[in-house]
Amino acid sequence: MDNRLFFPATQRNRHCIGDVLSRIIKTNGLILEIASGSGEHGVVFQKRFPRIIWQTSDPELVHRESISSWINYEDLNTKMPQPIFLDVEKIPWKIPLNLINSLQGIICINMIHVAQWPSTIALFKEAGKLLNKEKFLMLYGPFKIGKQHTSQSNYFFDKSLKMQNSLWGIRNLEEVSAEAKKNDFFLEDIISMPANNFSIIYRKVS
Ligand SMILES: C[S@@+](CC[C@H](N)C(=O)[O-])C[C@H]1O[C@@H](n2cnc3c(N)ncnc32)[C@H](O)[C@@H]1O
Repeated sequence: MDNRLFFPATQRNRHCIGDVLSRIIKTNGLILEIASGSGEHGVVFQKRFPRIIWQTSDPELVHRESISSWINYEDLNTKMPQPIFLDVEKIPWKIPLNLINSLQGIICINMIHVAQWPSTIALFKEAGKLLNKEKFLMLYGPFKIGKQHTSQSNYFFDKSLKMQNSLWGIRNLEEVSAEAKKNDFFLEDIISMPANNFSIIYRKVS
């Protein structure tokens, strides 16, 4: 059955996110993608970085079914693992040991503003436990900087998020980075991306 979902933003941001990844993915190994959504990013990045194993995840069954359909549609079944259930707040994360051993980085695209703040706290806590020294955690999405929105469109986007769920909203980069620091990450890079988004690269200290 074809359960593919189509998230239009992935069409617009896949290439520029891939360009950032091409700077930080250096070796073989496994990338764990948190909140993979439709799976469109996953299959695109698996094809762009064929030496990497791209492990998708999502808490929603409908999303995991979409990811599986995308893997099938792109004929990646022999290369790319099936998505796993992962809700960042259900800690400790249940990740198979063989995946953890080859983990070189974690990426989380457009999640922390559509989840409550404890999700961000849990994300850093668990990623900090899983990642070894010099491994990366990359976030992509809109952020406030110095508690200020970086554009008027983000201001309105933030308002619309809070109308959908009062616990959602665009996060302050400084508060996110404070969580990173608590969990032994340093802020390596802040990269401005199209449409007032950012790629934020955190790196494990030890
Ligand atoms: C806006 S979508 C982004 C999906 C995809 N990363 C993309 O950029 O198209 C937000 C995603 O976050 C996931 N999500 C929400 N809360 C989550 C949580 N607590 N743990 C993991 N994923 C979560 C949703 O299931 C959804 O797939």
